Amino acid sequence: MAEKLLEVKNLRTEFKRDKTWVTAVNNVSFSIQPGEILGLVGESGCGKSVTSLSIMKLLARNSKISNGEILLNGKDLLKEDKKGMRKIRGREVAMIFQEPMNSLNPCMRIEKQLTEAILLHNNFSKEEAHNRAFEVLKSVGIPEPDMTLKSYPHQLSGGMCQRVMIAMAMSCEPELLIADEPTTALDVTIQAQILELMEDIRAKKNTGILMITHDLGVVAEMCSRVVVMYAGRIVEEAPVQELFADPKHPYTQGLIGSVPKLGSGVESLPSIPGSVPDLSVMPKGCKFAPRCKYAMDICHQQEPELADINEAGTRKCRCHLLNKTGKEA
Ligand SMILES: Nc1ncnc2c1ncn2[C@@H]1O[C@H](COP(=O)(O)OP(=O)(O)OP(=O)(O)O)[C@@H](O)[C@H]1O
Ligand SMILES: [Mg+2]
Repeated sequence: MAEKLLEVKNLRTEFKRDKTWVTAVNNVSFSIQPGEILGLVGESGCGKSVTSLSIMKLLARNSKISNGEILLNGKDLLKEDKKGMRKIRGREVAMIFQEPMNSLNPCMRIEKQLTEAILLHNNFSKEEAHNRAFEVLKSVGIPEPDMTLKSYPHQLSGGMCQRVMIAMAMSCEPELLIADEPTTALDVTIQAQILELMEDIRAKKNTGILMITHDLGVVAEMCSRVVVMYAGRIVEEAPVQELFADPKHPYTQGLIGSVPKLGSGVESLPSIPGSVPDLSVMPKGCKFAPRCKYAMDICHQQEPELADINEAGTRKCRCHLLNKTGKEA
């Protein structure tokens, strides 16, 4: 068995809404090996950010992780207290957040924010920390690092803030990098540069990366395996080429069908009718059944298991249409 950097087992994360608890992430399990890039995809609201914030233990106050284990190098993060997590974040696991503006401190110059993290995890002098901050800003394509270091977040554009966030996450060379839509706010040239940088770091440092993105082109280019989420559950898992060549779950088929073709000029094609169910009114059986053109009676009654669908155990799918060999039932 290959060594695992991250192992998420049966994770369940709930939110309190009004007076009731709703489940945003339900029984999610996956793992990442050192040096591997795992893609996490799914429509807006399916639980990608909640999964990643659960790993970082940075969830909102109205939340609880009610089940599961999150093993990083075999150590269960759910058993770590605040102090323990502060030591782990940055060095062992770092995250590029989806909302860069909300994640930078508006009252602190970029230099202070960057060097604080660097000093916390390295035995550096102030000058060494400054130099590392300068280098890491340069590596994410910031043209004048000195000026950026002296700036406050509001003095920078959204794309610049995003790059500062990426620099911050990479500054301590974490073993696991969680990238939640890392390049969505950036123009294509910078996007390509950042993706190249991440690939570079992975290759040099054997960093494991959880890549959350709406962009299936990025997934195809960067990831070796993909996990597809729908309504807080994993519905399919596969090596990247197999997923694109032969998607098994009707939801995955719809997602891949939604990718705009070159020259079509549309952001996304509405090939999956309907929308993601509200967390407080989940359908009884398969959560995708109300939108699925293949839905059978059983699909509305009973939720399918996430089952192995090939002998090697590399492909999984949660669908009544498939039996254990992956053939149509
Ligand atoms: N603090 C919160 N309180 C209540 N519900 C929340 C909270 N944070 C997230 N949720 C709910 O959890 C579900 C999953 O949200 P999440 O942010 O993980 O989606 P996502 O897959 O990251 O979507 P996107 O692609 O838009 O970023 C959503 O229904 C969302 O409304
Ligand atoms: Mg999100």
